[in-house]
Formats: sequence, structure tokens, C-alpha cells
Amino acid sequence: MLDRQPPHPRLATAALRRFAALALARTNQYGLRTITTPGLVAAVPDERAGHRPSISPPAVRMIDALTPETVEPLLRGRFGRPLVYEQTCESTQRLLGADLPEGAAAVCDEQTGGRGRLGRSWEAPTGTAILCSVLLEPPAERVVAELTLVGGLAVAEAVEEATNLAAQIKWPNDVLVNRRKVAGVLAEVADGAVVLGIGLNVNQTREQLPGDAKVAAGSLLTTDGIRRERAPILGDLLFRLEQAYDRWREGGLDAVYDGLGARDFLRGRRVLVDGEVGLGIAVDRQGRLEVEIGGERRLVESGEVLFER
Ligand code: BTN
Repeated sequence: MLDRQPPHPRLATAALRRFAALALARTNQYGLRTITTPGLVAAVPDERAGHRPSISPPAVRMIDALTPETVEPLLRGRFGRPLVYEQTCESTQRLLGADLPEGAAAVCDEQTGGRGRLGRSWEAPTGTAILCSVLLEPPAERVVAELTLVGGLAVAEAVEEATNLAAQIKWPNDVLVNRRKVAGVLAEVADGAVVLGIGLNVNQTREQLPGDAKVAAGSLLTTDGIRRERAPILGDLLFRLEQAYDRWREGGLDAVYDGLGARDFLRGRRVLVDGEVGLGIAVDRQGRLEVEIGGERRLVESGEVLFER
């Protein structure tokens, strides 16, 4: 017969830790779901499971900041150096002077005059979104307008990495998940450089998103119910943007076309172009949208294309 010895204290502790980790990976009695990222454990309401905390949550809180101390250790390349951070600013598009090097980035928690494409505004409640601008100095032979697609590709990849869901790019600058716009990209020329602005909706609730947008808005939170730290997503996004940008810089849109073509949202959809109904064919290798209207093929170079839901 085998003797039943009590486990060695160190083994017992290890077993307890393993058990605790498993327990943490589930929704707990407070209706909180735990997410673990390197060095951090965050407990957040699991809206996906329909849980509403009925008693005070425990002291574990999500650490969610975009300050240089938080973001810089997560940078993997040139982009984001330096990182200009302001808690509140008019627009991150205005924080990058021409004296800064290519790849310098600006982020904030709140914009008082956030700008979107076609003269629209871009709004997000304080601390809920990634509001970021990056300074770029593309060679003269490149077409600056293509940068919204290059940025869109980087955002789509970062969203996929963060959510494990497929993201699509709606020409010329929107990133969609489940047919909802979770991000937009804006390229502006200033002092001979390009400032590429990215707004990514991360932790907005449904009520905090604009209800009157041309393309229905969503956030990562409304997509899968998970509240996330923004800094790791921003670090990943800046690295993916650098990689996509470097490829584009060398080889133009052709060099990133596979990633774009595979995520082309308007392909095969009924679209509305300047009041006319047509069929989206594809984004071509020059960054134009090919559509078929009344049996004729047309190439749209700029503007807005709506789609039938
Ligand atoms: C769009 O879809 O219309 C583009 C939106 C771009 C918004 C971002 S948020 C960070 C940067 N600062 C701005 O004022 N706009 C861009």
C-alpha cells in the first residue's frame, strides 16, 4: 500500500497558482471577466455574457494609459519615437512639428476638435479610443492618397491580432468588423510631410458611439464585449504601420496589395456612388475603386461610396 504523504509545500503552492489562473480566466461572481496581458491582469465587465456587476467589483482594475511610460516599452520599431502625449488636445494631427523625425507619433486621451475625412468631426469620450497621428515623409514618387489604404491595412491587422476576428477595409479609409466601422484613417499634408491620423474605437459602449454616422459605428468592446488596454494595441499598430509603410515606400501599393485585396469590403457589394447604384468590383493596384454602374466599368478616384446593408 502506498503512503499518502501531504504534498511538498512548494508543489502545493504551484498547484494553487495553476488553479487560480484557471479560475481567473473565467467570468467570476462579480460578472467580471479577466484578461491577462504580459505583467497585467485586468478585470472588466463581461457584457458579452450579459453580466452586470450587482456588487462592488474587487480592487483589481484595468491599467489603461497611453502615456510614454506605458507605451514606449511596447514599441518594436522606429515608429512611435518620440511619442508625444497630451491628455487633452485639439487634434493629434496638430501635435507633430516638421522638426520631428519620420515615425514620430502623437497620442492623447481626449480631442476637443478631432477631425475626420471630408471635413467631418471625429469624436470619442475621454480615454476610450486610440487617437493617434504619425509623421511620414514619403518619397516624391509615391501617391499620398494611397496612405489611407496603407494605414487601413495596418489597423485591420492590429484589430485582428487584438480580437481574433476578421477586419475589412472599406475604400478608401475605413476599417470594419462585422459591418461596423471601428476605425478611420486620415492623411493630411503639412509642411511637406504627411500626418497620418488614426482613430480606433476600443472601449466605447454602444451609447458612446455616434448614432448618425454614414457607416454604422462600432468599437472593439461592442464587437465582442471585451474591454481592453489600449497601449498594447497601439504598440502593435505602430509596428504594423511601419512595416506596411516601408513596403509601400519601396514598392508602392503593389507591395501591400495582397493584404488589401483580401480585406476589400466593397468587393461584390451593392454600392451608391454619387447617387447612382452600382456593384463594387475591387480596389485596383493604383488605389482606385472599380465599380460597375449600368453595365459600365468606372474607376472612382476619391470621394465617398456608401453600401447597402
Ligand atoms: C475618418 O474616418 O473620417 C478618419 C478619422 C481619423 C480620426 C483620427 S483620431 C486621431 C487623428 N486626429 C484627428 O483629429 N483625426 C485623426
